[in-house]
Amino acid sequence: MILLKIMNNKIKQIRTVKGMDDIVPEDNNYWEFIEASFKEILMSAGFQRIVTPIVEDALLFERPIGEKTDIIEKEMYYLERKNDDDDKKERLALRPENTASVVRSYLEHGMHVKTQPVKVFYFGPMFRHDKPQKGRFRQFFHIGAEAIGDDDPMIDAEIISISYRLLKKLKIDNFSIQINSIGTSKTRESFIKKLKEYYHPYLSDMCDECKSRIKTNPLRLLDCKQQSCQRYKEGTPQIIDYLDTKDKSHFMEVLEYLDELEIPYELNTHLVRGLDYYTRTVFEIWPQTDKIKDPSRFAVGGGGRYDGLAELIGGKSVPGIGFAFGVERIIEILKMTDKKIKHSKSPDIFIVQLGGLAKRKSLKAAEILREEGFSVVFAANKDSVKSQLKLADRLKVPIALIIGQKEVLDGTLILRDMNGGMQETVPINMVVDEVRKRLPKDQ
Ligand code: HAM
Repeated sequence: MILLKIMNNKIKQIRTVKGMDDIVPEDNNYWEFIEASFKEILMSAGFQRIVTPIVEDALLFERPIGEKTDIIEKEMYYLERKNDDDDKKERLALRPENTASVVRSYLEHGMHVKTQPVKVFYFGPMFRHDKPQKGRFRQFFHIGAEAIGDDDPMIDAEIISISYRLLKKLKIDNFSIQINSIGTSKTRESFIKKLKEYYHPYLSDMCDECKSRIKTNPLRLLDCKQQSCQRYKEGTPQIIDYLDTKDKSHFMEVLEYLDELEIPYELNTHLVRGLDYYTRTVFEIWPQTDKIKDPSRFAVGGGGRYDGLAELIGGKSVPGIGFAFGVERIIEILKMTDKKIKHSKSPDIFIVQLGGLAKRKSLKAAEILREEGFSVVFAANKDSVKSQLKLADRLKVPIALIIGQKEVLDGTLILRDMNGGMQETVPINMVVDEVRKRLPKDQ
């Protein structure tokens, strides 16, 4: 426990902020596996990495995500600098998501002159002051992708297909892709009118949030999770019936592509997503395991089209579509379903040193071997050969190189095969070749 004495001799415990966790080395396998799988799939589809700042102008998020959404109303972290005077004050925010930032970057760097769509992916922390609970954190990681500059339904299908392939690659088999089209803000107007009319008679029985949502963000009435509101869901008007011909045929084409790709999906006319910038195709990926009671609250990923987002942040109109997965939730599912992730590769070589002179030489030897491409570890704090070899064994290192006073003077090393226990003396200039010969093929 870390205890710090602060003013007035009070004691404060220093620990991670509520809802924000360390990623400990034990979980490294999962993080590496997810990032590597994701990169492989996206790079094979022509996506390149983009990194945008964690801190942005708050305005970037407020309008596109929606002033009346939970994210902006309740969850965004605003930053304050101690010494800024009022007229110089910048309104900065920790990013709650990355799509708006990527579109800002597209506009700021004039990416419209590139071949369209511009395809990018990202991996990084997002911040939402949500109520911490299982699978819900205040700092969490997104692994996401965006294709900006093309509104062809084929791109929608490609984005959904990549999400599908990613989960398959991660060996997550039981999930369902929920899909809907919510048209454009224009075509939504008549639907929203009908939706309000439908809910009006039931309002007095509904939750407080829905009572206010009907005025501020009526579309969100459709995904209220409260029991008191669920029972009215069945009879709601269907947004699909209100789409115009163009939106409808766009959606039909997306579904045809998905059928062609044999990607299973479920039409979910209640799916609206929690961010206002969406247009046309929206989708979410829900896990299917009896360990999760309400999969709609534990979506592992979600995304959709946002053809109006660039204009909402003051740029020219540019279509776009993308998705983001919650990395912590993917890990949770992998752990829940007992999916064994291959452990990170063991180091190739353990250098065992005996005596002061050997210890000085062993760091140099490690650097030389690392330059040759081997991964090399040692234990500076252990003196006995026995304890060093024991550690090498625990780390499952296939080769140990033992250096003592004699070896330093002779210009040799003892090479020990950690699996068979065989040892031989090797001249120092032969070590690289000898190690290479002996390393198991998959190392
Ligand atoms: P989102 O649905 O808000 O979409 O977030 C995507 C995923 O992030 C969710 O499905 C969930 O797995 C994870 N997630 C969200 N909030 C939390 C939280 N508090 N704790 C842990 N995980 C969480 C977006 O943010 C959009 N930008 C996705 C997108 C990309 N749409 C188009 N392009």
